[in-house]
Amino acid sequence: MKLTGEEQRMFDGEAGEAARESMDILVALGKIYGAERMVPVTSVQVSGVSYKTIGDAGLDYLKSLAGKGAKTRVPTFLNPAGMDSAQWKEMRIPEDFAKKQIEILDAYATMGISKTCTCAPYFIGIRPKKGEHIAWAESSAVAFANSVLGARTNREGGPSALAAAICGVTPYYGLHIEKNRVANVVVDVKCNLKSIADFGALGMAVGKLAKSRYPAFHGIKAAGEPALKVLGASMAATGSVPIFFIEGITPEYALAGKPEIIVITEKDILAEKKSADSGLKPNLVTIGCPHASLDEIKDVAGLVGARKPTCEFWVCTSRKLKEEANRLGYNRPIEAAGGRIVADTCMVVCPLEEMGYVVTGTDSGKAAAYLPNLCKQKVAFGDLEDILYR
Ligand code: F3S
Repeated sequence: MKLTGEEQRMFDGEAGEAARESMDILVALGKIYGAERMVPVTSVQVSGVSYKTIGDAGLDYLKSLAGKGAKTRVPTFLNPAGMDSAQWKEMRIPEDFAKKQIEILDAYATMGISKTCTCAPYFIGIRPKKGEHIAWAESSAVAFANSVLGARTNREGGPSALAAAICGVTPYYGLHIEKNRVANVVVDVKCNLKSIADFGALGMAVGKLAKSRYPAFHGIKAAGEPALKVLGASMAATGSVPIFFIEGITPEYALAGKPEIIVITEKDILAEKKSADSGLKPNLVTIGCPHASLDEIKDVAGLVGARKPTCEFWVCTSRKLKEEANRLGYNRPIEAAGGRIVADTCMVVCPLEEMGYVVTGTDSGKAAAYLPNLCKQKVAFGDLEDILYR
């Protein structure tokens, strides 16, 4: 790879051991993918934050990197952690888990990384512009940034994102290059999508069929950001789709040659919803996968304020939006109805299985895909009005 003078100095160890190791990772990655050079990034989003997902090995790696003087060169943000740092005791998070989680967050903070702990940084003002190069790791955020914002990122792994943060660059390949941002499968949606769960079901179905291809959707007439984030997250969970296009909605739309056409009907959406749903009544309903926007929290407050759910529920979001929701009083009907706004974490990366829950409800295709294996949960999948009052 052709490196600039500064990149070469980092590669040679002149900027310290942490930068040398990081540049080593980036160069190796660039060679694997045939990148000829690096590209500067304006922000990095790091995954691998929950103690549940990275364990002691991950914690040791972070501590060692921080101990070598690693410092970020660009604004860098964290994915959700394994607990709400303010209410972990009330939420029955085991104490030894909490201790390790705090050590992980502190190691990241030592490197200069902001403890945002959200998978939806775009809802707290971190919104890269169209064409901007970034290095984000959380798969749902990658899909949103590429597809809805038109920013450019590959799906980074935890270590490669961290290396990009420390060096301020990432290898120039894949979705950083305009000519690669082209759909190679068409999804013709022949039904109305009426709820977030419908978008989740569509995403689950398409992720399985598209695998790592880039879908162009036809037939979706309207979709707000909550629906788009759930669609992207669900496709990234059942497949590994890092970008999608919707004619008239996403800022980019390009189609190559004569790709396969996948037709999705109402029957497919209903079948996907049925297969993801155990039919059981949940002990806990979790809303906000990916993390909820302020408007979504407001909508939940309105819904549960009018009719109290028949089970416990969480609205997962960032700390910043939780504080804003509290300031606007959205927390009051939620708490009065037996729910809580949960910040910094989510239903999948917290130790749900150790907290006494067995059946968890969700309207997100991503959560429905991950809860059985990662949290040993049975899933109640459906529209909020269904799972909250089942
Ligand atoms: Fe975010 Fe957790 Fe879902 S990290 S995308 S809320 S599984």
